[in-house]
Amino acid sequence: MFNIYKKIQLKEVTKRDNEEIDMEGMMNGNNNEKWWKKAVVYQIYPKSFQDSNGDGFGDLQGIIKRLDYLETLGINAIWLSPVFKSPQADNGYDISDYRDIDPTFGSLDDMEKLINEAKKHNIRIMMDLVLNHSSNEHRWFKEAKKSKDNPYHDYYIWRDGDEGVPPSDMKACFGGSAWEYVPEIGQYYFHQFLPEQPDLNWENPKVRRAIYDMILWWMDKGVGGFRLDVIDQIAKEPDKRITINGPRLQEYFKELSRETFQKGDLITVGEAWGADTERAKLYSNPDGSEFSMVFQFEHIGLDQKEGGEKWDLAPLPFKKLKKIMAHWQNELYNCGWNSLFWDNHDLPRIVSRWGNDREYRVESAKMLAILLHGMQGTPYIYQGEELGMTNVQYDIEDYKDCEIINMYHERLEKGYSKDEIMKSIYAKGRDNARTPMQWDDSANAGFTTGTPWIKVNDNYDKINAKSQVDDPDSIFSCYKKLVQLRKDYPVFVDGKFTLLLEDDENIFAYSRKNEEKTMIVVCNFFDKEIPMLLAKECEGMEVLISNYKDTSDMSVLRPYEARMYIR
Ligand code: GLC
Repeated sequence: MFNIYKKIQLKEVTKRDNEEIDMEGMMNGNNNEKWWKKAVVYQIYPKSFQDSNGDGFGDLQGIIKRLDYLETLGINAIWLSPVFKSPQADNGYDISDYRDIDPTFGSLDDMEKLINEAKKHNIRIMMDLVLNHSSNEHRWFKEAKKSKDNPYHDYYIWRDGDEGVPPSDMKACFGGSAWEYVPEIGQYYFHQFLPEQPDLNWENPKVRRAIYDMILWWMDKGVGGFRLDVIDQIAKEPDKRITINGPRLQEYFKELSRETFQKGDLITVGEAWGADTERAKLYSNPDGSEFSMVFQFEHIGLDQKEGGEKWDLAPLPFKKLKKIMAHWQNELYNCGWNSLFWDNHDLPRIVSRWGNDREYRVESAKMLAILLHGMQGTPYIYQGEELGMTNVQYDIEDYKDCEIINMYHERLEKGYSKDEIMKSIYAKGRDNARTPMQWDDSANAGFTTGTPWIKVNDNYDKINAKSQVDDPDSIFSCYKKLVQLRKDYPVFVDGKFTLLLEDDENIFAYSRKNEEKTMIVVCNFFDKEIPMLLAKECEGMEVLISNYKDTSDMSVLRPYEARMYIR
């Protein structure tokens, strides 16, 4: 998925745009006071979080039951992957009614209850808005495909054509053509994802108005923010083969924000696979004209072959990772805001990916957490990441994700061996992140009393929340402490970032500095012992957090050792 984005040139953001940002940002003063700059967000994939009625699917009542757990972790907001009414062709990222809840998850009443109960735990709920496309079961689409002069026809993107001769050879992200034929009206509609996810036509002001009204309706219900799914794809112009970063993108964002988000004190985050730092500054302009922050992926796609797809595996270019993360830290300083993440529902588990999920699982999971949480931006913890949950290796029949299944068949047809395909799925498949949350060592990890919709990872007897919550040395406790440190030390929020030891092959280190404090984070990214190169710089500093008990030896860093110092 998402590799088509690479083939499209990022549209240049002009210098003038940026000069305007700075001016506006300055006029609005320093907005480091925004609550979401100190916040940590926790992402819930509702289908796999907690089942409360034994049907094998997680639900809203299940989330309500686990609010105490989340309050213990200390997070401030939940990004709830879509719970709207949906035929679930793409696990809810295909919405058939934006103003209702899918019965698998509960009812509108349950949703209101969740919003209110979460507030009591000081947690805000962010809804996941899928605005690039709807489900083909949405009332708008059902109308739209009836005839060319139906009032809803223009809600979607249509082109005339003969069956078997699509308007272009554009491909969808989940495989196959981006055009689907509707014989009854002799037209093709455009879909960047599944055929069950027809793209909405943002050029139609009626579509935009309907979306704004829906968002205001949710704001009225007390939601605390929104995550905006593939929002960089809304301004498409298929005739020019433009899918991401279309010419009208920023214009749409500004209108969307003005008509909705700016009427409340919300956290908003735009998912953007195609944003570079210049564009990200527009997304997260401190004047609040677009969104609070950007959620971009430049650091997370590095372990794939150049020019290939995510399935074409390659070792992680470690120095490049450091360079890219530093670039984002430096470029957005004082003029934008980034999201900090390793994991989400589309990505494999970080401990299996760039850590070591065998003998150093605990050490490497904590190292990755310390490394990320010391940076500037709003951290996102994806469910189970705080426990060091790992990837899985299932038989192909046990996978549920449409992306995995489509890729499997496509690559078999192209002549790849089954072994090779499975290797890619084990490494990158989205279902790695979608296995049920591991609550305890009882049947099905305490996720459900029924049959789980997707198999539970069989390491749940060892890796589960129950065994970690009260253990001060657990991965959970490490995350909990990091969340607290961000609240206690303003340097986490405003400190200037400097990458240290840029060319070192093993260490990821950086400093953060504000007027009061200097923080240094030193991480051994690999499984061997190496010299502690920053001993002199860190001498006499207080250790805020580390992943080994005794940090007195200033000569070596043990495998995956991470230390966060402050003065
Ligand atoms: C986003 C979602 C992903 C979904 C896709 C289409 O990238 O995170 O899960 O499949 O958009 O909505």
